[in-house]
Amino acid sequence: MSDRFNILIVDDEQKICEILSEILDGEGYKTYTAYNGADALDSIRKYDIDLMLLDIKLPDMDGITVLKKIKKLSSFVSVVMISAFGTVALAVEALKSGADDFIEKPLETNRILTTIKNVLEKVELRKESNLLKSEIIEKYRILGDSLQIRKVLELIDKIALSTGLVLIRGESGVGKELVARNLHFKSGRAAKPFIKVNCAALPGELIENELFGHEKGAFTGAYTRKSGQFELANNGTLFLDEVGDMSLQAQSKVLRAIEDNEIQRLGGTKPIKVDVRIITATNKNLQHLISEGHFREDLFHRINVLSINVPPLRQRKDDITLMADYFLKNACIDNNQPLKTLSKKAIQFLKHQDWPGNVRELKHLMEKAAILIEDAIIDIDDIEAIIGKEERGLTGVDRIEIDDAKKKFEKKYILSILNKTGWHITKAAKMLGIDRSTLFRKMKKLCIRK
Ligand SMILES: Nc1ncnc2c1ncn2[C@@H]1O[C@H](COP(=O)(O)OP(=O)(O)OP(=O)(O)O)[C@@H](O)[C@H]1O
Ligand SMILES: [Mg+2]
Repeated sequence: MSDRFNILIVDDEQKICEILSEILDGEGYKTYTAYNGADALDSIRKYDIDLMLLDIKLPDMDGITVLKKIKKLSSFVSVVMISAFGTVALAVEALKSGADDFIEKPLETNRILTTIKNVLEKVELRKESNLLKSEIIEKYRILGDSLQIRKVLELIDKIALSTGLVLIRGESGVGKELVARNLHFKSGRAAKPFIKVNCAALPGELIENELFGHEKGAFTGAYTRKSGQFELANNGTLFLDEVGDMSLQAQSKVLRAIEDNEIQRLGGTKPIKVDVRIITATNKNLQHLISEGHFREDLFHRINVLSINVPPLRQRKDDITLMADYFLKNACIDNNQPLKTLSKKAIQFLKHQDWPGNVRELKHLMEKAAILIEDAIIDIDDIEAIIGKEERGLTGVDRIEIDDAKKKFEKKYILSILNKTGWHITKAAKMLGIDRSTLFRKMKKLCIRK
């Protein structure tokens, strides 16, 4: 693994630089040398240095100053200080200023090599987690350059760093969850958990159990203690999706948790301190729910400190071209298909639709197109065939043809998803956006068998 790492040796004693270079080259590292602070900083700018061995005493500036400057230039360089006898106190100061480790002179080969190896292992991990982070950012990137979406992005940047509760509103499929995830990873809590609870999926008391957990013996069947999502989200973000569907009893407990920053497990007696940022989302009109007595007004005011309204896709049709291209390209790559593009007319066609299912609907359509259409350029009729535009005054023959095509497409599509998930029905149903029983019915109707 060592040949992938670049090491910069900084020492005013030329002899030491030469010896270290020889040892490290022999281990397969690529080495550079500098005899003073200015040259060291220069090398950091010029080369892609992973690790630096830095003498604490240099002719032009002391090692700690160099270290501080380097940390400003790049947070990716690891630094191991070299301290002479009597400079250990300085070395400790260096650790506080961001050095990874230090070794004392006289230098001993084994000690140098183990220290370097340990520090580089950390570098490797850091590189991986940075990669992971950039993958997450890419995965949840909010696409669009319409005025409306730019306003949403600005708002996210403005409020991500605050601690205020955020209510995200918008129709189904507009990207509310995406907004919540962006708020999280742009906040100071990014390294801590992001936990999503779908309040609509959990009826009555189940939601309380999910949110607050329970003590052993709290109810029949509670054989062990279980932490709730509030506890698991500690120091991070708790995303309460479909908050409008929460029972009134759960609402009052959530309100208390927000006001006191503490929760109690079901059947518990001790309050537990929690520090979570709560983000909520709903596609319902909470004011209506309040007037009907289904949502607590005091909770509404608590969660609605900051609010983001994500407009439906039909109100930002300028985003459609960019999104459709992106979704289509990604779907082709994900499904090992040759890259396809949309004809100008096809894009115009997409822009004329109303998209009741919003971005999710557009994304699914592009996934279908990537898998089902064989031409490199996708045209209106291809898209019409997969949408299966029913009510368009088609003749009986057209109708049958389209139905046939739809069935074929659907079969091929379902098969591809089944194969992709290794015939895992639950996963496949989820990817298709239908429930398991519907998938079984479709498989039967379309004669899909393994
Ligand atoms: N601006 C966008 N850029 C890229 N992808 C988007 C955008 N908006 C939504 N999506 C994608 O559309 C799908 C639906 O988005 P999301 O789940 O965030 O919507 P939602 O508003 O939470 O929907 P629901 O109310 O049904 O839960 C996701 O796959 C998401 O990645
Ligand atoms: Mg959602």
